[in-house]
Amino acid sequence: MRFDIITLFPELIEPYLSAGVTRRAFAGGAVTVRLWPLRDHADGHYRRVDDRPFGGGPGMVMMAEPLYRCWRAIRVDRGLDAVRAPGAPVDVPTVLFSPAGERLTHAVVARYAAADAPGAILVCGRYEGVDQRFIDACVDAQISLGDFVLSGGEIAAVALLDAVARLQPGVLGDAASAEQDSFNPAVDGLLDCPHYTRPEVWEGPHGPAGVPPVLLSGHHGQIASWRRAQRLLATARARPDLLAEARARGVVTPADER
Ligand code: ADE
Repeated sequence: MRFDIITLFPELIEPYLSAGVTRRAFAGGAVTVRLWPLRDHADGHYRRVDDRPFGGGPGMVMMAEPLYRCWRAIRVDRGLDAVRAPGAPVDVPTVLFSPAGERLTHAVVARYAAADAPGAILVCGRYEGVDQRFIDACVDAQISLGDFVLSGGEIAAVALLDAVARLQPGVLGDAASAEQDSFNPAVDGLLDCPHYTRPEVWEGPHGPAGVPPVLLSGHHGQIASWRRAQRLLATARARPDLLAEARARGVVTPADER
Protein backbone atom coordinates (compact mmCIF):
# COMPACT_ATOMS: atom_id res chain seq x y z
CA MET A 1 0.00 0.00 0.00
CA ARG A 2 1.12 3.53 -0.62
CA PHE A 3 0.72 6.67 1.47
CA ASP A 4 1.35 10.11 -0.03
CA ILE A 5 1.68 12.84 2.56
CA ILE A 6 1.06 16.52 1.86
CA THR A 7 2.96 18.52 4.46
CA LEU A 8 4.73 21.82 5.09
CA PHE A 9 7.23 19.98 7.29
CA PRO A 10 8.48 16.75 5.66
CA GLU A 11 11.47 16.92 8.02
CA LEU A 12 9.12 16.11 10.93
CA ILE A 13 8.07 12.84 9.31
CA GLU A 14 11.27 11.67 7.56
CA PRO A 15 13.33 10.51 10.58
CA TYR A 16 10.51 8.36 11.83
CA LEU A 17 10.53 6.29 8.62
CA SER A 18 14.05 4.94 9.22
CA ALA A 19 13.87 4.03 12.93
CA GLY A 20 12.47 1.21 15.06
CA VAL A 21 10.70 -1.99 14.03
CA THR A 22 8.34 -0.20 11.66
CA ARG A 23 11.38 0.70 9.50
CA ARG A 24 11.06 -2.83 8.08
CA ALA A 25 7.63 -2.07 6.65
CA PHE A 26 8.90 1.10 4.95
CA ALA A 27 12.30 -0.25 3.79
CA GLY A 28 10.85 -3.60 2.72
CA GLY A 29 8.17 -2.00 0.56
CA ALA A 30 5.11 -3.32 2.45
CA VAL A 31 4.22 0.34 3.07
CA THR A 32 5.49 2.93 0.59
CA VAL A 33 5.57 6.52 1.83
CA ARG A 34 6.11 9.59 -0.34
CA LEU A 35 6.40 13.04 1.16
CA TRP A 36 5.07 15.99 -0.83
CA PRO A 37 6.31 19.39 0.42
CA LEU A 38 3.33 21.68 -0.06
CA ARG A 39 5.48 24.74 -0.78
CA ASP A 40 6.70 23.10 -4.02
CA HIS A 41 3.18 23.63 -5.32
CA ALA A 42 2.78 27.26 -4.25
CA ASP A 43 3.22 30.36 -6.41
CA GLY A 44 5.40 33.41 -6.28
CA HIS A 45 8.67 34.41 -4.71
CA TYR A 46 7.34 33.65 -1.21
CA ARG A 47 5.60 30.40 -2.20
CA ARG A 48 2.66 31.38 -0.11
CA VAL A 49 0.47 28.59 1.29
CA ASP A 50 -1.70 30.44 3.82
CA ASP A 51 -3.66 33.67 4.15
CA ARG A 52 -5.88 35.56 6.57
CA PRO A 53 -9.40 34.20 7.18
CA PHE A 54 -12.33 35.90 5.46
CA GLY A 55 -14.58 37.38 8.13
CA GLY A 56 -11.61 38.18 10.34
CA GLY A 57 -10.32 36.45 13.41
CA PRO A 58 -6.99 35.16 14.57
CA GLY A 59 -4.56 32.92 12.74
CA MET A 60 -4.09 31.90 9.14
CA VAL A 61 -5.89 29.46 6.86
CA MET A 62 -4.24 27.07 4.40
CA MET A 63 -5.12 28.12 0.84
CA ALA A 64 -7.09 25.74 -1.38
CA GLU A 65 -5.04 26.17 -4.58
CA PRO A 66 -1.59 24.89 -3.50
CA LEU A 67 -3.25 21.94 -1.75
CA TYR A 68 -5.29 21.20 -4.86
CA ARG A 69 -2.25 21.36 -7.16
CA CYS A 70 -0.26 19.05 -4.92
CA TRP A 71 -3.21 16.66 -4.58
CA ARG A 72 -3.65 16.47 -8.37
CA ALA A 73 0.10 15.84 -8.86
CA ILE A 74 -0.13 12.93 -6.43
CA ARG A 75 -3.13 11.43 -8.18
CA VAL A 76 -1.39 11.65 -11.57
CA ASP A 77 1.79 10.16 -10.07
CA ARG A 78 -0.33 7.24 -8.83
CA GLY A 79 -1.72 6.71 -12.33
CA LEU A 80 -5.19 8.00 -11.43
CA ASP A 81 -7.30 10.66 -13.13
CA ALA A 82 -6.17 14.06 -11.86
CA VAL A 83 -9.70 14.66 -10.61
CA ARG A 84 -12.23 12.01 -9.69
CA ALA A 85 -15.53 12.34 -11.56
CA PRO A 86 -18.36 13.50 -9.28
CA GLY A 87 -20.09 10.49 -7.72
CA ALA A 88 -17.34 8.05 -8.82
CA PRO A 89 -16.31 5.52 -6.15
CA VAL A 90 -13.34 6.43 -3.96
CA ASP A 91 -10.23 4.98 -5.63
CA VAL A 92 -7.62 6.23 -3.17
CA PRO A 93 -9.06 8.04 -0.14
CA THR A 94 -7.87 11.51 0.78
CA VAL A 95 -7.64 11.95 4.54
CA LEU A 96 -7.31 15.24 6.41
CA PHE A 97 -5.99 15.20 9.97
CA SER A 98 -8.12 17.50 12.06
CA PRO A 99 -9.72 17.64 15.52
CA ALA A 100 -13.06 17.48 13.66
CA GLY A 101 -12.32 13.97 12.38
CA GLU A 102 -13.29 10.48 13.42
CA ARG A 103 -11.24 9.35 16.41
CA LEU A 104 -8.27 7.16 15.41
CA THR A 105 -8.97 3.68 16.81
CA HIS A 106 -7.84 0.12 16.12
CA ALA A 107 -10.83 -0.29 13.78
CA VAL A 108 -9.77 2.73 11.70
CA VAL A 109 -6.15 1.55 11.59
CA ALA A 110 -7.23 -1.94 10.54
CA ARG A 111 -9.16 -0.45 7.62
CA TYR A 112 -6.06 1.30 6.24
CA ALA A 113 -3.77 -1.66 7.06
CA ALA A 114 -5.78 -4.33 5.22
CA ALA A 115 -3.79 -6.27 2.62
CA ASP A 116 -5.99 -5.07 -0.25
CA ALA A 117 -6.22 -1.42 0.92
CA PRO A 118 -4.76 1.17 -1.48
CA GLY A 119 -3.24 3.39 1.21
CA ALA A 120 -4.25 7.03 1.15
CA ILE A 121 -3.37 10.61 0.39
CA LEU A 122 -2.79 12.18 3.81
CA VAL A 123 -3.17 15.93 4.26
CA CYS A 124 -1.44 17.49 7.26
CA GLY A 125 -3.24 20.69 8.18
CA ARG A 126 -1.45 23.57 9.91
CA TYR A 127 -2.45 26.98 11.25
CA GLU A 128 -6.12 27.60 12.09
CA GLY A 129 -7.33 25.20 9.43
CA VAL A 130 -7.77 24.46 5.75
CA ASP A 131 -9.97 26.36 3.26
CA GLN A 132 -13.28 24.49 3.40
CA ARG A 133 -13.54 24.48 -0.41
CA PHE A 134 -10.54 22.13 -0.68
CA ILE A 135 -12.08 19.88 1.98
CA ASP A 136 -15.44 19.81 0.18
CA ALA A 137 -13.86 19.09 -3.20
CA CYS A 138 -11.09 16.62 -2.36
CA VAL A 139 -11.24 15.18 1.17
CA ASP A 140 -13.02 11.84 1.75
CA ALA A 141 -12.41 11.38 5.47
CA GLN A 142 -11.07 13.26 8.48
CA ILE A 143 -9.16 11.65 11.32
CA SER A 144 -8.48 13.04 14.80
CA LEU A 145 -6.00 11.79 17.38
CA GLY A 146 -8.27 12.95 20.19
CA ASP A 147 -10.04 15.87 21.79
CA PHE A 148 -7.10 18.25 21.81
CA VAL A 149 -5.56 20.54 19.24
CA LEU A 150 -2.18 19.81 17.67
CA SER A 151 -0.28 22.52 15.83
CA GLY A 152 -0.33 20.32 12.74
CA GLY A 153 -1.36 16.96 11.35
CA GLU A 154 2.17 15.54 11.01
CA ILE A 155 2.15 13.78 14.39
CA ALA A 156 -1.24 12.29 13.56
CA ALA A 157 0.07 11.10 10.17
CA VAL A 158 3.02 9.43 11.87
CA ALA A 159 0.65 7.82 14.39
CA LEU A 160 -1.44 6.32 11.58
CA LEU A 161 1.64 5.18 9.61
CA ASP A 162 3.15 3.56 12.69
CA ALA A 163 -0.01 1.70 13.61
CA VAL A 164 -0.53 0.54 10.00
CA ALA A 165 3.12 -0.50 9.58
CA ARG A 166 3.21 -2.69 12.67
CA LEU A 167 0.19 -4.65 11.45
CA GLN A 168 1.99 -5.66 8.24
CA PRO A 169 3.12 -9.30 8.13
CA GLY A 170 6.75 -9.76 9.19
CA VAL A 171 7.18 -6.32 10.75
CA LEU A 172 6.96 -7.28 14.42
CA GLY A 173 9.56 -9.79 15.57
CA ASP A 174 6.91 -12.10 16.90
CA ALA A 175 3.81 -12.34 14.71
CA ALA A 176 1.68 -12.96 17.80
CA SER A 177 2.53 -9.52 19.26
CA ALA A 178 0.09 -7.55 17.10
CA GLU A 179 -2.64 -10.03 17.87
CA GLN A 180 -2.15 -9.56 21.60
CA ASP A 181 -2.23 -5.77 21.39
CA SER A 182 -4.67 -3.74 23.41
CA PHE A 183 -7.86 -2.86 21.54
CA ASN A 184 -7.56 -5.68 19.01
CA PRO A 185 -11.11 -6.97 18.55
CA ALA A 186 -9.62 -10.16 17.07
CA VAL A 187 -8.70 -10.89 20.69
CA ASP A 188 -11.32 -9.23 22.92
CA GLY A 189 -10.83 -5.48 22.48
CA LEU A 190 -9.54 -5.20 26.06
CA LEU A 191 -6.44 -3.44 27.37
CA ASP A 192 -3.24 -5.44 27.51
CA CYS A 193 -2.12 -7.24 30.70
CA PRO A 194 0.99 -6.16 32.65
CA HIS A 195 4.36 -7.49 31.47
CA TYR A 196 7.52 -8.37 33.41
CA THR A 197 11.07 -9.28 32.44
CA ARG A 198 14.37 -10.04 34.20
CA PRO A 199 15.50 -9.67 36.92
CA GLU A 200 13.08 -11.77 38.95
CA VAL A 201 13.53 -9.37 41.88
CA TRP A 202 14.09 -5.72 41.04
CA GLU A 203 15.57 -3.42 43.69
CA GLY A 204 13.20 -0.52 43.15
CA PRO A 205 12.75 2.76 45.05
CA HIS A 206 10.38 1.10 47.54
CA GLY A 207 12.42 -2.04 48.16
CA PRO A 208 12.64 -5.38 46.37
CA ALA A 209 9.81 -5.95 43.85
CA GLY A 210 9.03 -9.45 42.61
CA VAL A 211 7.13 -10.92 39.69
CA PRO A 212 3.67 -12.54 40.04
CA PRO A 213 4.62 -16.17 40.85
CA VAL A 214 2.27 -17.66 38.24
CA LEU A 215 4.46 -16.17 35.49
CA LEU A 216 7.43 -18.18 36.82
CA SER A 217 5.43 -21.40 37.14
CA GLY A 218 5.85 -22.58 33.54
CA HIS A 219 2.17 -23.57 33.64
CA HIS A 220 0.83 -22.21 30.34
CA GLY A 221 -2.86 -22.71 31.16
CA GLN A 222 -2.58 -20.85 34.46
CA ILE A 223 -0.51 -18.09 32.86
CA ALA A 224 -3.15 -17.61 30.15
CA SER A 225 -5.95 -17.42 32.77
CA TRP A 226 -3.98 -14.94 34.87
CA ARG A 227 -3.32 -12.74 31.83
CA ARG A 228 -6.95 -12.79 30.80
CA ALA A 229 -8.04 -11.86 34.37
CA GLN A 230 -5.50 -9.03 34.38
CA ARG A 231 -6.79 -7.73 31.03
CA LEU A 232 -10.31 -7.65 32.47
CA LEU A 233 -9.12 -5.92 35.63
CA ALA A 234 -7.03 -3.31 33.79
CA THR A 235 -9.92 -2.55 31.44
CA ALA A 236 -12.52 -2.34 34.23
CA ARG A 237 -10.29 0.17 36.03
CA ALA A 238 -9.09 2.35 33.17
CA ARG A 239 -11.64 1.91 30.37
CA PRO A 240 -15.00 0.59 31.61
CA ASP A 241 -16.46 1.70 28.26
CA LEU A 242 -14.33 -0.91 26.45
CA LEU A 243 -15.41 -3.60 28.89
CA ALA A 244 -19.06 -2.73 28.29
CA GLU A 245 -18.47 -3.01 24.53
CA ALA A 246 -16.77 -6.39 24.92
CA ARG A 247 -19.72 -7.62 27.03
CA ALA A 248 -22.16 -6.38 24.42
CA ARG A 249 -20.23 -8.24 21.71
CA GLY A 250 -20.27 -11.37 23.84
CA VAL A 251 -16.48 -11.73 23.90
CA VAL A 252 -16.57 -11.19 27.66
CA THR A 253 -19.15 -13.30 29.50
CA PRO A 254 -20.28 -13.29 33.15
CA ALA A 255 -18.28 -16.54 33.58
CA ASP A 256 -15.09 -14.69 32.53
CA GLU A 257 -15.63 -12.13 35.23
CA ARG A 258 -16.14 -14.48 38.16
N1 ADE B 1 -4.56 18.58 13.85
C1 ADE B 1 -4.82 19.43 14.85
N2 ADE B 1 -5.36 18.81 15.90
C2 ADE B 1 -5.45 17.50 15.56
C3 ADE B 1 -5.94 16.34 16.22
N3 ADE B 1 -6.44 16.40 17.45
N4 ADE B 1 -5.89 15.18 15.57
C4 ADE B 1 -5.41 15.11 14.32
N5 ADE B 1 -4.93 16.16 13.65
C5 ADE B 1 -4.95 17.35 14.26
